Amino acid sequence: MIVLVGFMGAGKTTVGRALANRLGRRFVDADRAIERDQGVSIPAIFEGYGEAGFREIEARVIAEALRRPAAVLALGGGAVTTPSVREALAGHRVVLLEIGYDDALARIAGDAGRPMLARPDLAQEFARRQPLYAEVATLVVPVAGRSTAEVAEAIVAGLGLSSPTAARPVDAAVPEPGE
Ligand code: S3P
Repeated sequence: MIVLVGFMGAGKTTVGRALANRLGRRFVDADRAIERDQGVSIPAIFEGYGEAGFREIEARVIAEALRRPAAVLALGGGAVTTPSVREALAGHRVVLLEIGYDDALARIAGDAGRPMLARPDLAQEFARRQPLYAEVATLVVPVAGRSTAEVAEAIVAGLGLSSPTAARPVDAAVPEPGE
């Protein structure tokens, strides 16, 4: 499994989709999987259960996703704050899409789909997460000034993956160690 982590706005979903397409793998977005699981939106889950309730659902859905066949999996920005998620990531290739706080906020400002933006201590939360991202990451890719394709390319190169010019079907993907 190739797992993308990083703060909100780092481009995990966009890059993940491009990377999966490039590698002929399935793409799974953890937030969308959570919404499917619950049948309601992320903001509605925060409203109904609070952040702690959301984290429990998130950890379970991620654990399930990690047990399925090799894919590209994008995690929500706060998933790494849950210890069981960090443990479950061991043995997987985990790519940190690294972004600065100001750049991240500029990309996500005003997005009603991101309840964490309402937190008055968001800057502290950003700082608190940095060592957690570093702990799980096996590859760090800065995103500043790079296009989606350039970030995907940096991941392919950084992970030492073959880089076919055309996407291959999923079942033609070569299994990799630990998957
Ligand atoms: C969150 C990030 C969101 C989503 C939820 C909580 C966070 O995902 O999981 O709103 O705590 O940073 P993105 O990073 O994809 O926005």
